[in-house]
Amino acid sequence: MNIIVVGQGAMGLLWYHHLAISTVATNLSLLASTQHNLADDNYHFIDSHGIPYQGKINYAYDEQIKNADVILLCVKSFQIGSTLKQIAQHSKANTSIILAHNGMGTLTELPKELINKYNIYALLTTHGCLRKSSLNITHTGIGITDIGLVSGCVELTEQQALTYQLNQALPSVNLHKNIIEKQWQKLAVNCVINPITALHDIDNGQVNNTIFTGQIEKVLTELVLVAKSEGIYLNIALLIKTVRQVAAATAKNCSSMRCDVLAHKQTEINYINGYIHKLGIKHKIATPENTQLWQTVLRQVSFDKLRTNGEYKGKRRV
Ligand code: PAF
Repeated sequence: MNIIVVGQGAMGLLWYHHLAISTVATNLSLLASTQHNLADDNYHFIDSHGIPYQGKINYAYDEQIKNADVILLCVKSFQIGSTLKQIAQHSKANTSIILAHNGMGTLTELPKELINKYNIYALLTTHGCLRKSSLNITHTGIGITDIGLVSGCVELTEQQALTYQLNQALPSVNLHKNIIEKQWQKLAVNCVINPITALHDIDNGQVNNTIFTGQIEKVLTELVLVAKSEGIYLNIALLIKTVRQVAAATAKNCSSMRCDVLAHKQTEINYINGYIHKLGIKHKIATPENTQLWQTVLRQVSFDKLRTNGEYKGKRRV
């Protein structure tokens, strides 16, 4: 298999490293947005037992994209459209595209001809990984990965073969016929943990503080109603339990959204609470809690930017 990993963030390098040390890929390369500026092609990886490893990166160019069988997109939700358009110029039809981002709603924004060109999978993972600096990552917690086809027509045996290969590289990877329900469960986790940790500047574990109980229930009640209108039936009690478990299991982690806000970077809020808001409008369901979180995070990032530039002297507002 010719495999390309796209994205030089923590998840991209985690997969790149595990594919590189396995025998899964005949040709493996990394497409990094920064590859033209990077003088170095060495990456540093510390595995989950604290063992350091150094490897070489084989960067992807047009030739590799043309021959790719599998492209694993480890980029943010708001980068999916532009990344796929860039890849589409060179990649062949029926390439397996694997989307590994937080949030939902990216596919519906893409032109039909782009979607129809590929077989598209969604990949959800609970591995913990931290990028300390450029090309320098630590595998902070072993997790599991769920994968499932979201667009295209692929024989089950072919889906199983792809899952088997990924499982060889970074176990465990489980194939799901109905990945959409898993995507909604992950969305529920992100709708709660990400904005709360980002706005209060707290670690994931603190989300389980009782001061957030009412807010968590409201966020998830709205999400369950919206999901139902989309034909997805979720159990609110189970969702609350899952969110609490993830917060406890990743207690010391800095959520991706909190990291983005602290770094004054664009967040994935439009595809998380913003997605619930958007579907709420579509189905005429009020989603005040999700809407407020969506807008507050958007505002926060703008305030923080202004404050950094010295144009706003006010306090952080939640
Ligand atoms: O976005 C994140 O940070 C992660 O998806 C999660 C599960 C909230 C853990 O930090």
